[in-house]
Amino acid sequence: MEALNIIANKMVAKGKGILAADESTPTCSKRFESIGVESTYENRNEYRDMLLTTEGLNEYISGVIMFDETLRQSTTCKDKIPFTDYLDSKGILPGIKVDTGAKEFAGFTNEKITEGLDGLRDRLKEYYKLGARFAKWRAVITIGDMIPSDACIYSNAHGLARYASLCQENGLVPIVEPEILMNGSHTIEDCYEVSQRTLNVVFEQLIMHHVLLDGIVLKPNMIISGLDCNEQASVEKVSELTFKCLKDNVPSDVPGIAFLSGGQSSDLATAHLNTMNEKYIDNMPWNLTFSYGRALQEDALKAWAGSNRLDAQKALMFRSRSNSLATKGMAADMMQNL
Ligand code: 13P
Repeated sequence: MEALNIIANKMVAKGKGILAADESTPTCSKRFESIGVESTYENRNEYRDMLLTTEGLNEYISGVIMFDETLRQSTTCKDKIPFTDYLDSKGILPGIKVDTGAKEFAGFTNEKITEGLDGLRDRLKEYYKLGARFAKWRAVITIGDMIPSDACIYSNAHGLARYASLCQENGLVPIVEPEILMNGSHTIEDCYEVSQRTLNVVFEQLIMHHVLLDGIVLKPNMIISGLDCNEQASVEKVSELTFKCLKDNVPSDVPGIAFLSGGQSSDLATAHLNTMNEKYIDNMPWNLTFSYGRALQEDALKAWAGSNRLDAQKALMFRSRSNSLATKGMAADMMQNL
């Protein structure tokens, strides 16, 4: 079994980031609906094949997070290579989403709790055998009237810690993802406050559960204005507050932080990452990279539209290369529509 710390460091190696292609079947169906493609088992296989077999992807992508269905699927060319073997042959680490989704949090209004701990040990053992070397669990925190509650933050952080310790027991690096949603009219300062509060409890719980911090990857949101907030913070302000929040609240043992894109435009997600690395790279105890879903796939999905593989792969490569450059603060010329 490879050491967790070695795998975690590979996931966040400078110049590389993670492709989140782990949309659950309902989410994938929603994405397909937007391009008028029917969400069948075969079409999902074809789409993921298009993404994963993009020539040269391994230059910029260290790992791919998959959904259970995809982890069991194979390339669609005639040799039908299992995706896990295919990725492995390209030096890309296969990853698996293991939570079973964010559900209504009993006793509280408009808050969610992520489920999936029951039977997780056995599932992780199977995923390891299938070739997965890291996992993901996403907790969701909503900002609103009197929320998030302490109970919601604590319960989700507890879930993340239980998941993370089970992953490490079974040789998988846990991606620890506490996502503060962008939805709402809150200010960037509200996002800062809630993110700080959440990160503190998450690390308290991880440490309490004996999770090895040098064998995880943190996947946080950026500190950003709510989508409906009248005042949208500048790229500079987002970068400054995000870096400050992480610097003050993420222990330096953690090898890397890989952001989620969370609904930002592809260009903005790159610009924020780029500015943080450009300004603060010499002052970071961890590597700062990306684990984007939408911000890597959006253009590719549109270009694909069910059949245009080459155009879609070109779009994916463009976004992957841009964000790879952004991990070094060198992507200033790559933003198309800012
Ligand atoms: P987005 O980058 O689209 O937010 O997706 C990342 C992810 O994995 C969410 O869990």
